[in-house]
Amino acid sequence: MTTPELTSGFGTPTAADDATRRATTRILLWDLPLRIFHWSLVVSVVTAIVTGELGGPWMPWHGRAGLCIVGLLAFRTVWGIAGSTTARFASFAPAPRALLRYVRGQWRGVGHNPLGALSVFALLGLLAVQAATGLFGNDDIAFAGPLNALVDDTLGRRVTGWHRLLANGLFALLALHVLAIAFHAIVKRHDLVRPMITGTLDVAPGTPLPKTSRWRGGRAALLVAVALAGGGVSGLTWVGRGAAPVAASISPRSPASTSSPTSPTSPASTTTSKQATQAAPAW
Ligand code: HEM
Ligand code: HEM
Repeated sequence: MTTPELTSGFGTPTAADDATRRATTRILLWDLPLRIFHWSLVVSVVTAIVTGELGGPWMPWHGRAGLCIVGLLAFRTVWGIAGSTTARFASFAPAPRALLRYVRGQWRGVGHNPLGALSVFALLGLLAVQAATGLFGNDDIAFAGPLNALVDDTLGRRVTGWHRLLANGLFALLALHVLAIAFHAIVKRHDLVRPMITGTLDVAPGTPLPKTSRWRGGRAALLVAVALAGGGVSGLTWVGRGAAPVAASISPRSPASTSSPTSPTSPASTTTSKQATQAAPAW
């Protein structure tokens, strides 16, 4: 297949460019579900970070963005097994030998390079832990994750602390991710972004290619992945809705309200019921 816009970088295309153009092969590098996953993840993570930092009335939106991330990660897990070759975890799980070859500049291939693959696993893993800790957390005011009621106050606070701490690690990894992509574009003259948008990549002759770009599990796998993601998110939303209003669910564990959490005459519970009515249901 030809690649019309290929040039050697400067000026008009040369005869060598023509030869290269004829020789390159256009492949499908990233399948459509993976690309939709990536850009949806970007939107959801940016929303989660901005709303998490703003706090207060933005927390219900933080929770929704967080749940979208849970769904996307569930989808990616299935797609890591059943997606097309370059999307499969096994195809880019970095072996030490491949890493060494990459560092020495001897690695050739398409898809995540061995070093990039490490950061992909770190990013997906950290996002999963971040989302999981958020589910059990609360902001001590009017918002709690849908699973917060399952843990006691001490554990809830501890997990929320991890959630805040881990957010810094995530910022670092995300900065690294974007910087690495900019480095590839500016220094190595290797545009990684375009294939993540269009899906296709023009590869030079002799580059080892994946055997097939077909989805391993076909449409059934896509259905399972989407159903799992949707089912998980709906389940968590349902659990969150069933939980008591946040301030009320926090208050019975707080020492001030242990005497009479429901009595309207006790000062502690007056505050509690006020908070509870102020607290908009998060889900
Ligand atoms: C919140 C921000 C972002 C997150 C959470 C994120 C996450 C990820 C993840 C998880 C992957 C691996 C894809 C896979 O599952 O196989 C990935 C790959 C990629 N991301 Fe992002 N990303 C973010 C922002 C961006 C931005 C702003 C760009 C473009 C400027 C970008 C461009 C890419 C590209 C090109 C790849 C493929 C890298 C390769 O060829 O190995 N990402 N990203
Ligand atoms: C990967 C997804 C998530 C990211 C990137 C994220 C990020 C953040 C950030 C940046 C903060 C502010 C931390 C600070 O104040 O220093 C925050 C707070 C919080 N997040 Fe998340 N979050 C995610 C998922 C979730 C989920 C799924 C929930 C629950 C449904 C949740 C619940 C909370 C709570 C309750 C707080 C308030 C903590 C406090 O005020 O002490 N988060 N999150």
